[in-house]
Amino acid sequence: MRRGSRTVAGIDLGSSKITSVIADVAPDEVIVRGINSTPSKSIVKGVIRDLNQCAAEIDASFSGAVYSSGVHLDQVHLAVTCKDLVSTPLTGELKLESAENEITQEHIDRLLDSVRTPPREGQFALLQRIVQEYEVNETRGVRNPLGMFGERLAVRVQDIIGPEWLLNNYKKALDRVGLAVKSLIPSVLAAGEAVLTTEEKNTGCVLIDLGHGTTDVALYRDGSAAYTSTIAVGTGNFDTDFMQGLGVSLEEAQRIRRGFLKAWININQADADDVIDIKFYGHTEYAKIKKQKVIEIALPRLQEWAQLIKNDLEDSELLASIPGGVVLTGGGCYIREITGFFQHHLDRPVRIGMPRGYSHLFDEFRAPQYAGALGIASFAGRQERDKGYEASFLENIAEAFLNLLARFSGRQSED
Ligand SMILES: Nc1ncnc2c1ncn2[C@@H]1O[C@H](COP(=O)(O)OP(=O)(O)OP(=O)(O)O)[C@@H](O)[C@H]1O
Ligand SMILES: [Mg+2]
Repeated sequence: MRRGSRTVAGIDLGSSKITSVIADVAPDEVIVRGINSTPSKSIVKGVIRDLNQCAAEIDASFSGAVYSSGVHLDQVHLAVTCKDLVSTPLTGELKLESAENEITQEHIDRLLDSVRTPPREGQFALLQRIVQEYEVNETRGVRNPLGMFGERLAVRVQDIIGPEWLLNNYKKALDRVGLAVKSLIPSVLAAGEAVLTTEEKNTGCVLIDLGHGTTDVALYRDGSAAYTSTIAVGTGNFDTDFMQGLGVSLEEAQRIRRGFLKAWININQADADDVIDIKFYGHTEYAKIKKQKVIEIALPRLQEWAQLIKNDLEDSELLASIPGGVVLTGGGCYIREITGFFQHHLDRPVRIGMPRGYSHLFDEFRAPQYAGALGIASFAGRQERDKGYEASFLENIAEAFLNLLARFSGRQSED
């Protein structure tokens, strides 16, 4: 393992699959040591419906990653998504005793401690606090104020909170298979680490994770996420619509979605008259229907989906201050014409975000639906590095000492 790198384990609890990753994270590279994805049947739109089954599914997924990496960690970073997660912007301010005083870690900790999420109805717990920027006197956009001089230190953070019962259920499912949760990460923020460039995060962009149960949105600017939210509509909703609208099984509905769904449909297009073969529920033979029927069922759902995303982005009141484009990720990226659909509805350039910066990764995992899982490694690695500032300082001293020792012993052997 490279000096300065950390081994982290992550699990992405998705509504269609659970993906586990074990990786060595260095400041400039993530080496994937093991990755495994298995189907999830116990999680619906981010909510665990069957604790025992969920524990068994987590076990199957994580064991595969342990087996392929040869590393067993019992503390994992967990990426989750659910419409009940709430992102709250908060600010705090601290008057420093004297302008000649340097800002110390104690000042920063005191300031962050003073920023509290306002109480909400029901019991909520903090998943993540994203520090967006510090302000030293009138200077905004300070990333790390440690050691700077000033009379006033302020901070802008984004707290992502979730109902305690929901988070406790995640923890309990992991506990059943002997795993402890090291941190809870909103899945979209993990995906952002995997697919966004530094330039996109700094300039500002919209990230949309098109999942099976949910669609997650994150707005980035000045290097970090300024807003996140979750909409309880995903690719799985098309399956339900096809099941009900066409009278087919779930398996057949999924086949129809994967094979024939187009996001950006011109209803006058000639292919609406094409016929397709489908198997009605309880039938053994295929029957022919017009593609027009599939379009008619999908269209209202597509329009609702676009409207919910647009409303959500408008509710954030930040969209106007974000000059960049839209990055799509998640399994919904496989829907045909998906980029054209979002270009039309959001009126911005759109690209598909593929995970990048991961070595030793099988090609089948270099795909948008694994962005959340792979991003956990980057997110957690960065988080551990930020928190372990003093540890890395000590590591540097240790490294300098080892270098000195090596040079000294080298000189001795030359003598
Ligand atoms: N090759 C593919 N072709 C078409 N659709 C695909 C393909 N691979 C995955 N999908 C679809 O992507 C969806 C899963 O996306 P994803 O893995 O991002 O969801 P998830 O993370 O499990 O769910 P969520 O994020 O909502 O909890 C499924 O509906 C699946 O059918
Ligand atoms: Mg997902």
